[in-house]
Amino acid sequence: MGKILIKNIKELVQVLEPTVKKLSGKEMATLSTIKDAWLAIEDNLIVGYGKMESWEGVSDWTNLEVIDATGKMVFPTWCDSHTHLVFAASREEEFVDRIKGLTYQEIAAKGGGILNSAKKLQNTSEEELYQNALIRIKEIQLMGTGAVEIKSGYGLSIEAELKMLRVIKRLKETCNLTIKSTFLGAHAIPVEYAANRTAYIDLIINEMLPKIKEEKLADYIDVFCETNYYTPEETNRILEAGAKIGLLPKIHVNQFTSIGGIQVGIKNKARSVDHLEVMTAQDILDLSKSDVMPTLLPSCSFFLNIPYAPARELINNGLPIALATDFNPGSTPSGNMNFVLSLACIYLKLTPEEAINAATINAAYAMGLENTHGSITIGKKANIFITKEISSISFVPYYFGNNRVEQVFINGKNTSLIV
Ligand code: NIG
Ligand code: FE
Repeated sequence: MGKILIKNIKELVQVLEPTVKKLSGKEMATLSTIKDAWLAIEDNLIVGYGKMESWEGVSDWTNLEVIDATGKMVFPTWCDSHTHLVFAASREEEFVDRIKGLTYQEIAAKGGGILNSAKKLQNTSEEELYQNALIRIKEIQLMGTGAVEIKSGYGLSIEAELKMLRVIKRLKETCNLTIKSTFLGAHAIPVEYAANRTAYIDLIINEMLPKIKEEKLADYIDVFCETNYYTPEETNRILEAGAKIGLLPKIHVNQFTSIGGIQVGIKNKARSVDHLEVMTAQDILDLSKSDVMPTLLPSCSFFLNIPYAPARELINNGLPIALATDFNPGSTPSGNMNFVLSLACIYLKLTPEEAINAATINAAYAMGLENTHGSITIGKKANIFITKEISSISFVPYYFGNNRVEQVFINGKNTSLIV
């Protein structure tokens, strides 16, 4: 630990006052930056920044580590507010099935999909799940992610859901990057409950939630509200039960069909509603009257070859947008936020400035971290990355499929120096 000064920064990106919690509509078009800047970190916090010409204030520091960032930019780390990165096994056989013409829904109907992942996870030890997830966390950290939300939902039994949540809890305790935990017991209906889905929902509410409360295993609650998964009424019932133990909703809605999930999310004061590939005019209108963060997952659309969310329409209606990866073995086997930014520019028609706002401050808001993450702000966590030499901000999404992240600091520590 100690004091670090990064000097000669070509451009210090996303410098915000602490009062800014999210950026909506037209505000998203502007990215606040300082050219030719310095940034000071002390222990795990950002303690100062400014233009090189006005350098003062920390010059009396001793034992100061100085990093020269000539030609390079500094960003707050990406916040990935929607992932399922604890899982037992990959599912590339479904990828091949889709190439041959089957749809995501057809694969799920024949026992693939979420139920396939659940079967494998039920037979995998907590230790193995932890070790594999740790590898993925290190991977995403190197690509510039400094905060991540992780969901359960591949357990679908009391034991296996709790096992997943305990893995996430252990990751929280052992990793430097910030993790938020979401209980997604209602991700699919387990086969053995196909004829009696209410019994499974009762199990979630009466058996799983009390254990989660007792062991403090989750921050949020999620439901896959979708045709053939959970109805809006069932979603509402589960979210109301979650609220009783202090879990705010962050829910999967409108991925394939618009069936009222958005309205249930708004009613239950969801932090975010995620996916939104299929939206009606009413959905957009209702959202624009709420504080819920619409979260888009373009790498899921890319991988499944399904429609992209109508991002421009959302922004034109004054809404904010957050971006996340949806990292999971079925619909998005990638935790690369840099690629998500490229897709957001290419397919969602976001400008690079809008995409960066969506992946930083708005994504921090989507996971309840807007006071500590998502911008260069004095007092916020020193979760930042230094790029390689780049010509402009637009180069970041332009350089698709790759990234120019050179050094990542999480909690003020250079990640290349931590195990
Ligand atoms: O966000 N849509 C629901 N859940 C995940 C996919 C889960 C899976 O296919 O394993 C998603 O896309
Ligand atoms: Fe998801």
